[in-house]
Amino acid sequence: MNPSPAGSELPILLDAAKIDARISELAATISNDYRGKSPHLVGVLKGAWVFMADLVRKISIHCTVDFLSIQSYGAGTVSSGEVKITKDLDISIEGRDVLLVEDILDTGRTYSYLQEVLGAHDPASLKLVTLLDKHSRRSIPVEADYVGFEIPDVFVVGYGLDFDQKYRNLADIRHIPSPQTLLLFDKPK
Ligand code: IMP
Ligand code: MG
Repeated sequence: MNPSPAGSELPILLDAAKIDARISELAATISNDYRGKSPHLVGVLKGAWVFMADLVRKISIHCTVDFLSIQSYGAGTVSSGEVKITKDLDISIEGRDVLLVEDILDTGRTYSYLQEVLGAHDPASLKLVTLLDKHSRRSIPVEADYVGFEIPDVFVVGYGLDFDQKYRNLADIRHIPSPQTLLLFDKPK
């Protein structure tokens, strides 16, 4: 058996089995909603890559995939709100049914920015599936079309989500419980 990865001591918020079961439900709903179409899934790197890999393998209709990479200014645990694309799409989304795939919807700033940028490329439709939704933290009134789990305002890592680029390799979603530790890393808003 492999040794436990670093971070395995952190408390679990959502275990791998629960995540897997919920993604099966999301994939079934998406496959049903897009029946007769071929959705184009656009994963937001890096956080969404693990979720995207599991989600596409449970979708039963034809779909295509692409990725974009964004950078939010401000390291630490609070996004500064300024976003820029650091890796653009490879495939045109004009006329496509685009399903944006995110790890977590927090303040809504990233999604709001991507709605504007991707919307300008004339997709047939643009929807969002997010594994996690920290709804209480929303500062821009955007909603995801498909949500895996609504979670409280705690900082989570694992299953692709990072803290300082670490912990992405954890199979479960865990939280970093000490706000004092986090304060050391937070930049002023
Ligand atoms: P938003 O622009 O505030 O909605 O931020 C969304 C992005 O912030 C996510 O895609 C994550 O990269 C990051 N983020 C927000 N909350 C967390 C968290 O609890 N853990 C890890 N990353 C987070
Ligand atoms: Mg992200």
